[in-house]
Amino acid sequence: MSSVTFKQMPWRAAGPRSIPQAFPYQGSKRLLASQILSLFPEGGVSRLVEPFAGSAAISLAARNYGLAGAVALSDVNKPLMELWKLIVDQPLQLIESYTRLWTEQIGDPRGYYMATRNDFNATHDPTLLLYLLCRCVKAAVRYSQKTGEFNQGADHRRLGAKPANIAARIKAASKLMQGAKVSACTYEDPLVSADVDELVYLDPPYQGTSDVPDHRYLEGLRREAFADTLQKAIDNRVSFIVSYDAVTDDYRYGQALPKELGLVHRHVVAGLSSQATLMGKSQTTTESLYVSPALVKRLGGAESIDARLDMNPMPSNALF
Ligand SMILES: C[S@@+](CC[C@H](N)C(=O)[O-])C[C@H]1O[C@@H](n2cnc3c(N)ncnc32)[C@H](O)[C@@H]1O
Repeated sequence: MSSVTFKQMPWRAAGPRSIPQAFPYQGSKRLLASQILSLFPEGGVSRLVEPFAGSAAISLAARNYGLAGAVALSDVNKPLMELWKLIVDQPLQLIESYTRLWTEQIGDPRGYYMATRNDFNATHDPTLLLYLLCRCVKAAVRYSQKTGEFNQGADHRRLGAKPANIAARIKAASKLMQGAKVSACTYEDPLVSADVDELVYLDPPYQGTSDVPDHRYLEGLRREAFADTLQKAIDNRVSFIVSYDAVTDDYRYGQALPKELGLVHRHVVAGLSSQATLMGKSQTTTESLYVSPALVKRLGGAESIDARLDMNPMPSNALF
């Protein structure tokens, strides 16, 4: 414990709801943010890189606590990254468009959802994606393997976040993410080319999910190819944290990363499993975090990592 000098960890007590979430997104790492922020170098980093950004829970959390100077968000989902550009640069126009879509649906929400989904598949308009994310089942983006079209159904029990709610969330996220660089690309280059004083947080999809529009990219996420790219980043002395495999009470998502990479591997309890919730079950998920050798060194060794994770109020080291 004595090696840990990073005593001020206000995120430990504040809980996940203290961090703004611009839009709902299945796979968001909001519940893990407390543990992941605890693995940041003391005083934060000059730049945080999130190459599987999704809803960018960790960048939002890091900015919220002053732990990231610059932020670089990227994701292979282009309309999603266009949505982030609107959040950063044109939040008021985005809120206005969402308010119009949300209001227009009243009267025929089912028909409106299907028409908007068709419209989105034809135009890839990011504003329509925001509406779909707020209305679809468990905020889980799904694309047809055959056509690449967004094919997730609507959650008919609700109309999606009310405009006032989305307005508050988008304004808060926009304020935090001012100056963020947003790009639509695959993860390799942002990871491998990060500088030694930066930090990369990697949250690839679980193997077998179809949350990307172009399924050729799933090929790039095979464990071996992912491990090869991690090795290149290790050779470049990049500091990174990876969330990879996960275990629920009765299911394992993905294999562990190869031991040969020399990553420090710890299990952390992430809270309710979104996959299990999708199947109508209530379970906790234990996720794996892997820390690169350069970051382990920067943090003062593996013991420091244990001390930092143990400092969290949530149980962090599961016994398997
Ligand atoms: C588990 S989600 C990330 C969730 C994110 N941590 C959050 O807080 O919302 C995985 C993301 O990786 C993206 N993705 C999938 N394959 C990719 C690839 N080859 N390169 C970059 N992004 C990819 C998906 O579009 C998806 O948004």
